[in-house]
Amino acid sequence: MRAEYSDWSGLMINLKVKLSDRSYPIHIGNGAFEAALAEFEKARAASKKLFCVADAAVAAKHKTKLAALSKTAEIFEINGGESSKSLANVEKLCSILAEKNIDRKSCLIALGGGVIGDLTGFVASVYMRGIDFYQLPTTLLAMVDSSVGGKTGVNIPEGKNLVGSFHQPRAVFADTRFLNTLPRREFAAGMAEVIKCAVLGDRALFSMLERESLSCKHSKLPEAIRRCCRLKAEIVSADERETSKSGGRALLNFGHTFGHAIEKCAGYGNYLHGEAVGIGMLMASRLADKLAGAESGNFDRIKSVLRKCGLPVKLSKLEAADMLEAMYRDKKTLAGKLKFVLADKIGESRTEHVDSSDVLSVLEDFLR
Ligand SMILES: NC(=O)c1ccc[n+]([C@@H]2O[C@H](COP(=O)([O-])OP(=O)(O)OC[C@H]3O[C@@H](n4cnc5c(N)ncnc54)[C@H](O)[C@@H]3O)[C@@H](O)[C@H]2O)c1
Repeated sequence: MRAEYSDWSGLMINLKVKLSDRSYPIHIGNGAFEAALAEFEKARAASKKLFCVADAAVAAKHKTKLAALSKTAEIFEINGGESSKSLANVEKLCSILAEKNIDRKSCLIALGGGVIGDLTGFVASVYMRGIDFYQLPTTLLAMVDSSVGGKTGVNIPEGKNLVGSFHQPRAVFADTRFLNTLPRREFAAGMAEVIKCAVLGDRALFSMLERESLSCKHSKLPEAIRRCCRLKAEIVSADERETSKSGGRALLNFGHTFGHAIEKCAGYGNYLHGEAVGIGMLMASRLADKLAGAESGNFDRIKSVLRKCGLPVKLSKLEAADMLEAMYRDKKTLAGKLKFVLADKIGESRTEHVDSSDVLSVLEDFLR
């Protein structure tokens, strides 16, 4: 059980992902960007070259920060958005790195959301058989989820994230001031991942979310991000490659089996990933009710927090049978068995194989 929620604001928070010689720090808060600049200056003084892949929208909106970064790193801009996570961009970036004589001792920097982080991390993992990289996340989703844990990758026409690697960053610097320019809908989508962490393993965080409406400038946001990163860091330290037979890193997929099916069946781009995961968590909560009799009121509590964050809680025009089929095709479904993360209580979760008839009946209820 987590400690009670502590009010926190102003200072920078540091925590660590423990992976023996690949352990790394996560710096969160107002000031993390300056901490990153200091680290890059040291790297440059040690004759390392630094090459930054920056989200073009971030570069346009944070010109002063980019100018400061350009003193230590060469900057290359790429558009955010899912279509940038492509093998074509991997090839393009690798060619640029080679042309610029970026060597094995050099470091890449990912400045952007999950798209830039996943793409740059993947390039860092394959260029010259792997070079170092840093994560500077600029979306809430990237701060609480994608920048931590070392999953990198790109999409191919056959599916999302089908080409990828595990490659941990040297450090993560999550400066919350970047969130001031993040569109409201993207912020809300990131909140879905915060809610996910709370339901999975942090009852105190969940209670705080029931009481407060977090925004990018809310004094409790950095503490909420820290709690999500801490949960992810603990899970990743124990099961880096998601090989645990039960629980482990797979717990982070709470709401995702339903969520991926929603994204696919509604057509990619109609729901943001976080929006689909939010509804997915509600469906998973119904499933837990049906199977084991989850703590009463869970479903309504999750629904009310999702609503408060401006996330959708209903779906229409999707067919239950199509969604079930999409789940069987999901790359996380192994040997034809559907596995779900179930939270019987807020703050406690487990993984379980579930019969397709139970899943179908939850889908039919939900889509009625
Ligand atoms: N590696 C992992 O463990 C992991 C985990 C979860 C999600 N992901 C991946 O993350 C990706 C989604 O990430 P995302 O939601 O951050 O999307 P994104 O990177 O596409 O960013 C969303 C939008 O916000 C813009 N943006 C980014 N930062 C901004 C800022 N500070 N101000 C204004 N605009 C800004 C981007 O240009 C983009 O249009 C997906 O590809 C998903 O597969 C990876």
